[in-house]
Amino acid sequence: MESTKKVMLSGIQPSGELHVGNYLGPLRHWPTMIEEYDCYFFLADLHTITVRQEPAELRQRVYKLLANYIACGLDPEKCTLFIQSHVPAHSQLAWVLDCYTMFGELSRMTQFKDKSARNADNINAGLFTYPVLMAADILIYQPDFVPVGEDQRQHVEICRDIANRFNGVYGEVFKVPEPVIQKVGARIMSLSTPDKKMSKSQPEGCVFLMDKPEDIMRKFKRAITDSDTENCVRYAPEEKPGVANLMQIYASATGKSYGEIEKEFAGKGYGAFKPAVGEAVVEMLRPIQAETERLLKDKAYLESVYRAGAEKASYVANKTLRKVYKKVGFIQP
Ligand code: TRP
Repeated sequence: MESTKKVMLSGIQPSGELHVGNYLGPLRHWPTMIEEYDCYFFLADLHTITVRQEPAELRQRVYKLLANYIACGLDPEKCTLFIQSHVPAHSQLAWVLDCYTMFGELSRMTQFKDKSARNADNINAGLFTYPVLMAADILIYQPDFVPVGEDQRQHVEICRDIANRFNGVYGEVFKVPEPVIQKVGARIMSLSTPDKKMSKSQPEGCVFLMDKPEDIMRKFKRAITDSDTENCVRYAPEEKPGVANLMQIYASATGKSYGEIEKEFAGKGYGAFKPAVGEAVVEMLRPIQAETERLLKDKAYLESVYRAGAEKASYVANKTLRKVYKKVGFIQP
């Protein structure tokens, strides 16, 4: 039953809605990755409660994200798709690893410093030990690769340090995974402030996967192009970041090259270009939105997906956990 494919794992925090930047960045490449690798993807619900959550909202978001991911092409038959809290071994391993992680190294995590500055009223222990839970998430599946965004690089580094430290004491228990920092293709910028990444914190410049067509069109029609009056669709990222960003989105949505786009809009100006990008995005998202809506109405199916996912994941996770428990000297139950 063991496959010979390399193992890849990534977690996604269900802390917000997916947007076009997420989709054209990493997400669009996942369907090809699941063909090539033995992939584990999970919704990191345990991680979200380091910041206060509205329980009903959290539940809804997890369902919605699960439906979104499946609609985007993460076929649950071809990868292991599950919810983190459904596999208790993550938390169990995290406790063990807590005891092999130093207070000093956690104190140096830049994300901890940032987040505690932003949530000064709730600097909880979970926020502090978050990287250890993430290390457990990873190491318990013995993956070869962990694709993450640049902001998570330090967390994968500490995971490697913890694994090496543990292996140094007990022998080769954990595979030490390689981070894969995603730069692939698109880095989509905000439509309203094109020098910043598209992000849910600036909703007007951010096109969500589930936005209605009229909202998508409005956001694109209002997109910032450039401050000069050239009014010409030309790919010049330094001079015209707003236009370059729209061209990138249009190119990704339609498969056209920058040269083709320049020709298509020669002499037409931004007034024609911006709604055309909007329409291309509406068309790109239409099947994903329809499939997400369909799946959300089929709770029984979604439940069958996350149950089967948790079962597959638990099998592998428990194997690693048993090995770890034995190594540290716990008596087998
Ligand atoms: N911390 C990651 C994020 O905020 C999510 C995550 C949790 C994760 N566990 C993981 C990513 C394990 C990769 C591997 O984006």
